[in-house]
Amino acid sequence: MGDKVSRAYSEARIKLINDYLESNLIRFEKSCSQRFEPLIEAMRYSLEGGGKRLRPILTLSAAEALGLNPVDVLPAACALEYIHTYSLIHDDLPALDDDDTRRGKPSNHKRFGEAVAILTGDALLTEAFGQVLLLGESQKFQPAQILGVMDLLVHHSGVRGMVGGQLLDVTIDTSDSSLPEIEFIHIHKTGALILASVLIPTKLMPLEEEKVQSFRRYGEAIGLAFQISDDLLDSETSIRYSRGPRKKPKPCYTQVMSPSEMKQKLNLLIDHAISSIRSLGDKSQNLIDIAEFIRTRKA
Ligand code: IPE
Ligand code: IPE
Ligand code: MG
Ligand code: MG
Repeated sequence: MGDKVSRAYSEARIKLINDYLESNLIRFEKSCSQRFEPLIEAMRYSLEGGGKRLRPILTLSAAEALGLNPVDVLPAACALEYIHTYSLIHDDLPALDDDDTRRGKPSNHKRFGEAVAILTGDALLTEAFGQVLLLGESQKFQPAQILGVMDLLVHHSGVRGMVGGQLLDVTIDTSDSSLPEIEFIHIHKTGALILASVLIPTKLMPLEEEKVQSFRRYGEAIGLAFQISDDLLDSETSIRYSRGPRKKPKPCYTQVMSPSEMKQKLNLLIDHAISSIRSLGDKSQNLIDIAEFIRTRKA
């Protein structure tokens, strides 16, 4: 991940997230009928598939920037990774992007079949909300604050967020797309969940509106920047190791901008993200490092 992000993305932090994800899978295994084991195996396959953990890392880093203990927000971080993972499993299905590989391995439906892949996505989405409820276990947060997290997650992952964006992504006529249209799709499809990752900790403590708005500006900017960097990476390599050959065209920035224009926009968004949270001081360093990672990432 490079030096700049070493603190935010430290091995210890990735381990914290991975151990938490694994402990939940074990919790499911212990508490459900053995006959459901194939579902847990398929969940584990995609959760352990080598993702960057960007969204949970963002939640832990935003929590830290606010003076919260990152360990206390792990259930919310896990909920985000569940929703992200479900979205990728469904996104790869033949009815959507029809991708045979994900992160260099067979996609979930190639490994387990379409029916199990659909159900694995359903399970992850449902259990994500179970995770949000687990925020109560630490006794650190009020029920109203946990409901605030739930509301945020519904808003950003559902009709008004990621799923809405996915609808447009798969139904738009790609020969006829404009910059505002592509931006609208990306803000919803990818940006919304990234924004939610940053905003979740702001729901878990009393906070002045001005501070919430700083987090919002940061989250919106890196959300869009992340998709631009993704489209740039796609344009630089005809087949990305992590994605596999694309069978269907999809709306992307390369249709309406040159690579140098995309880089310029990416830089502007990252600069804007960083200046939005500078006033938080030293505690925001991890968030700044993550923004820099998005600026320069190669995977
Ligand atoms: C991939 O997201 C899909 C997009 C939203 C662009 P990530 O690049 O965060 O996926 P993983 O989890 O690291 O593979
Ligand atoms: C992935 O989007 C799914 C979501 C953003 C919900 P894409 O279809 O654009 O990304 P890849 O190329 O499959 O990772
Ligand atoms: Mg897609
Ligand atoms: Mg796809």
